[in-house]
Amino acid sequence: MPNVLHFILRSLCSFFYRFIFSPPVTAKFGNKKLPNAIIVGVKKGGTRAVLEFIRIHPDVRAVGTETHFFDRNHDRGLDWYRSLMPRTLEGQISMEKTPSYFVTADAPRRIAAMSRHTKLIVVVRDPVTRAISDYTQTLTKTPDLPSFQELAFLNQSQGLVDVSWNAIRIGLYALHLECWLRHFPLEQIHFVSGERLITDPAGELGRVQDFLGLKRIVTDKHFYFNRTKGFPCLKKPESSVSPRCLGKSKGRTHVQIDREAVEQLRDFYRPHNVRFYEMVGFDFRWD
Ligand code: A3P
Repeated sequence: MPNVLHFILRSLCSFFYRFIFSPPVTAKFGNKKLPNAIIVGVKKGGTRAVLEFIRIHPDVRAVGTETHFFDRNHDRGLDWYRSLMPRTLEGQISMEKTPSYFVTADAPRRIAAMSRHTKLIVVVRDPVTRAISDYTQTLTKTPDLPSFQELAFLNQSQGLVDVSWNAIRIGLYALHLECWLRHFPLEQIHFVSGERLITDPAGELGRVQDFLGLKRIVTDKHFYFNRTKGFPCLKKPESSVSPRCLGKSKGRTHVQIDREAVEQLRDFYRPHNVRFYEMVGFDFRWD
């Protein structure tokens, strides 16, 4: 009996000691809050690179996986969404990326309903290259896929493009942007050039930091060009041995598509691209 009493007393003491002397949970770990900024698109634009590069900033905390809250998981509610977020300390911003949001009709309204102040980032890339990249990715998962041309054209000799094919539809940036502009002012959307992200990652990341109201801490000192990968990678911190290039699924060799099909797609996208440049006030020079 004295043993049992001793055990209970010890447990009680330990509980009260921890309760009284441990710092509040928030001071130790921070709080989970809904994201201040979301990378909403576009698939194969370079979204993983932007997230991995911006999250080395000490004032950024990000969810590593795609939450798909505003497209597939909206029914689960905001508390579920918040629970996925990383803990942030005061002054840190919280981010996630799910590229399918950009082409989800309900996503702009749903994000605006969460907070009209959410900052949005869209990584855009030449829609023809993007479509080929998208197809190359699908092909790795479904090797018996019809050819790119079969999927991209309703009638290739007439130059009739199949806009119902997702790989083509995603590249109609102006069309999708219209939906976002019904809920967010243009100033709240930042466009990253997927091409410049490869040639000048520090420059693009500088603009992303400005847009997020962050001090420019991620600079050219953080990057080097990895010849084997053929892409910029993050320099290793001295303490680490692990490489800091993106994974194998980022920067794949594309399936060869014949010149004529590529030209036909360029012609198809040209007016859409011009409209997109006018809407955002920047010429991405995709011709
Ligand atoms: P490819 O695999 O077609 O080259 P996302 O992350 O949105 O899926 O985009 C993938 C694309 O990011 C890749 O498409 C690649 O071109 C681009 N990218 C941009 N910067 C990169 C980097 N530093 N390392 C690897 N891929 C990068």
